[in-house]
Amino acid sequence: MLVTTKDMFEKSMKEGFAIGAFNVNNMEIVQAIMDAAAENKSPVILQASSSAIKYARIGYLMKMVEAAVEEHPEVPVAIHLDHGPDFETAKMCIDHGFTSVMIDGSKYDFEENVRLTKQVVDYAHSKGVVVEAELGKLAGIEDDVNVAASDAMYTDPAQAEEFVKRTGCDSLAIAIGTSHGAYKFKGEAKLRFDILKEIKERIPNTPIVLHGASTVIPELVEMCNKYGAELPGAKGVPDEMLKQASESGVSKINVDTDLRLALTAGIRKVLVEEPSAFDPRKYLTPARELVKQTVSHKMKDVFGSSNKI
Ligand code: G3H
Ligand code: 13P
Ligand code: ZN
Repeated sequence: MLVTTKDMFEKSMKEGFAIGAFNVNNMEIVQAIMDAAAENKSPVILQASSSAIKYARIGYLMKMVEAAVEEHPEVPVAIHLDHGPDFETAKMCIDHGFTSVMIDGSKYDFEENVRLTKQVVDYAHSKGVVVEAELGKLAGIEDDVNVAASDAMYTDPAQAEEFVKRTGCDSLAIAIGTSHGAYKFKGEAKLRFDILKEIKERIPNTPIVLHGASTVIPELVEMCNKYGAELPGAKGVPDEMLKQASESGVSKINVDTDLRLALTAGIRKVLVEEPSAFDPRKYLTPARELVKQTVSHKMKDVFGSSNKI
């Protein structure tokens, strides 16, 4: 069933689990995520960035989502714009049937972020669509950055309260130490759970979103490297930290990098082990299975969203 994130977030906040938001770019990824969600009886968010929309084309994307919903009618699914860069992109997605959009004004100053977010909220709400906004800057915390400078990148809890009040956004992405991509930490992984707690105290009814939250699963990195990739020093957020976040008020956890690694590892293995293979189904079938297992592991063992339909 195609839904907004409203009810799934309400349940997640009440029961202390998180919902995985997985980036989609093609049919195999959509199928893998939806098969995992159905098997786990888990709600799920499919999300597409503006570059994913350019790649897959919005019409194809919506038809794939439609097909997935038809195949698994019992699974609550939201289709969400990831990192909407401007009002026009958010509007285009809303007009094409997205049930949720993110407007990412985190690159602007506070007042411009409020203005842009409010503009999207007004349009989205008039169409029954929900809005995720972002406050704080996601960036790798370098070893040598001093505390004062790194503190400036984290979301300020008092500002978060004001931001939500003024914009009316439905959920808020925060910066507590995660970052996008396969190279998140130089040294030990570290998340600021103290800031998360303060934010939750100030806006207890606003679902919190964690971007840049891939684990950069070591087995997948090893598999990629074994079959010819070069990803030295790739590192993400360990499962235990994501589990803690899921139980501490984070409602949505964004995952793209781990799916990219799974698909790439699966494809590479076949191409290296069977140099004569050139039927795409030969390498995309096991690659899709690996994406499915990756999603399933997160739902069952990390986010706690299994059996939450
Ligand atoms: O947070 C960004 C996502 O990983 C999407 O990346 O813009 O390359 O599709 P993309
Ligand atoms: P990762 O790069 O950690 O998978 O983060 C994805 C994300 O935040 C998408 O918005
Ligand atoms: Zn993101």
